[in-house]
Amino acid sequence: MDQAVSIRWNVPPADLAEVRRLSLYPFKSASLQLDEEMTATPDTIFAGAFRENEPIGCIAILPEAGYDCQWRIRWLGVLTDERGRGVGAKLVRAVQQEAVNKRVSLWAEVRIKAIPVYERLGFESLGDFFDLPEIGVHRVMRWSSSGLRS
Ligand SMILES: CC(C)(COP(=O)(O)OP(=O)(O)OC[C@H]1O[C@@H](n2cnc3c(N)ncnc32)[C@H](O)[C@@H]1OP(=O)(O)O)[C@@H](O)C(=O)NCCC(=O)NCCS
Repeated sequence: MDQAVSIRWNVPPADLAEVRRLSLYPFKSASLQLDEEMTATPDTIFAGAFRENEPIGCIAILPEAGYDCQWRIRWLGVLTDERGRGVGAKLVRAVQQEAVNKRVSLWAEVRIKAIPVYERLGFESLGDFFDLPEIGVHRVMRWSSSGLRS
């Protein structure tokens, strides 16, 4: 993993809005409406991956229960030029550490491309694949440091 990349927590959403748009929604124009999703759920916490002081990736966790888990992961994204170097995995690992600290389990709707990243970090897939308009095929995945009920 690239040592020049660091993960920072509690990054203001505005500082990650463009990296989120470019990595997750490059087919959408920048807009207030798109950015407002980031703050729609109170207590959403953002982490950013930074090269020097430039954001190159993002992830968020929020207290939305689902699938027997307490917190949801959203908006894992890494800029196209920065992919394939472990930044995505580093962001997910940071979230897992935060989940251990908070003693919560995690769930996410994971895009097909990101499933191997989550799988390698111990997430389990749940249920069928499903399609989300504009974005594509997803699957629910979940993880707990203390194991999950089957
Ligand atoms: C999914 C996404 C976040 C992954 O980010 P990333 O930084 O490329 O993730 P990683 O580098 O940790 O892993 C990606 C691949 O690179 C490989 N890789 C990681 N480090 C590597 C290295 N040093 N050398 C070679 N390959 C490496 C991983 O094994 C992985 O391979 P796989 O996809 O065949 O399983 C990124 O592709 C992205 O933003 N996609 C668009 C948005 C998206 O789909 N987000 C997910 C929402 S659920």
